[in-house]
Amino acid sequence: MLYKENFLVIENVILKDLVEVYQTPFYVYSKKSIEDKIKILKSVFSSIDNSFIAYSVKAESNISLLKIMIENGVGADVVSLGEIRRFIKAGGKASDIVFSGVGKKESDIIYALKASIKQFNVESIPEALRINNLALSLNVRAKYSFRINPNIDAHTHKKITTGTHGDKFGISVQTLKENIDLIKSLSNIDFIGLSMHIGSQIMSADVYMNAVNIVKELISYLKENGINIDTLDIGGGYGIDYTRKDNGFDFDSFKTNVIPILKDLKLNIITEPGRFIIGDAGMLITRIEYIKKEWGKTYLILDAGMNNYMRTAIYDARNQIKPLIIKSDNTMKVDIAGPICESTDFFAYDREINYVDEGDYIAIFDTGAYGASMSNTYNSHTLCEQVLVSENKHKLIRSRQTFDDLIKNEINLQDHFLDNTYKENL
Ligand code: LLP
Repeated sequence: MLYKENFLVIENVILKDLVEVYQTPFYVYSKKSIEDKIKILKSVFSSIDNSFIAYSVKAESNISLLKIMIENGVGADVVSLGEIRRFIKAGGKASDIVFSGVGKKESDIIYALKASIKQFNVESIPEALRINNLALSLNVRAKYSFRINPNIDAHTHKKITTGTHGDKFGISVQTLKENIDLIKSLSNIDFIGLSMHIGSQIMSADVYMNAVNIVKELISYLKENGINIDTLDIGGGYGIDYTRKDNGFDFDSFKTNVIPILKDLKLNIITEPGRFIIGDAGMLITRIEYIKKEWGKTYLILDAGMNNYMRTAIYDARNQIKPLIIKSDNTMKVDIAGPICESTDFFAYDREINYVDEGDYIAIFDTGAYGASMSNTYNSHTLCEQVLVSENKHKLIRSRQTFDDLIKNEINLQDHFLDNTYKENL
């Protein structure tokens, strides 16, 4: 239920009550929504003997939210030392971490090797060599998969497609085949499987079916060449319905057409969902600072901008936007913009919205994924609060950054320049 009488709610909390406690803009998340999504995913994969959900931490990395994932038996897909440390800080086990990413730094690899993570998803031959050398020097062993780029168009926004040749991600089937001897020669890392991630906000199961079929052939090829693997990581990417018209990712077709192929492979299956778990659990609550009428248009100018939620500005995303209180059935047609000094700082164009006044509050829906995690301090706005709701309770899970936080790394540094003249003896 979206509204209780005319008040927008999240679980059993009336959002208008929260704007009296927290300062806008702020993100608010529903615990139940996260847990329900994890249950759905577990049931989708339940017919596979060994399946593992590694939540993609980049979608939203707040430690309290990660704790919910961990309590619900979910591991982590990470792409940096920071994400590894967040997951462990939240109480997660290193042995539940899958480490993806095209640019793993030496220091990050060393940390992951020492922590004994579950596996590295390796994205290039030089990366495999680097991890092997580091494992050798630390005298440890590690497990890894190669991320295959199957050259499949995920039919999603071009800026979030990752599985076609020319994208920077993964290696081609051809490259893997050419490196069988190298794989066999790496002394300190064990090649245990293949991984892939073909894109984000995918709606059709066919894309996964095509990709899994390519990988299936490759698994047979590896077997013929003396390499047996036990793990396949199919990545994340399951889309959500930002239009809220019941058109999310087609899990029915996924269960009919993809799960049986995965089952037949008799491997450990990993999936790395981000958006599907957290996307529609979160809303951005913001105040209408001004209603500006100009050029025959009406602009709602908010206190949230692309610094808080940049998906509209960079991917042309369209989120549902609704007032916290419905004051009238009458609607108005508005453009909805933030305070940032950029022409792309918009949340909606020509949108019908229930009548609102200056000083009212509105909610930007489905901003849980790639919302707070991609936010920044452009125009020197501080990072906003995050609030968690469970049933009829709410709590602060990130406080607003202060001005002092914002500038603390810029002051009290050396007050003189360091000498960088060429030293002949070096
Ligand atoms: N695994 C890997 C290796 C990934 O790169 C990603 C996302 C995921 C899993 C999780 O994908 P998901 O299930 O959330 O679709 N900022 C963009 C999305 C970028 C996704 C990057 N990789 C957006 O806001 O749409």
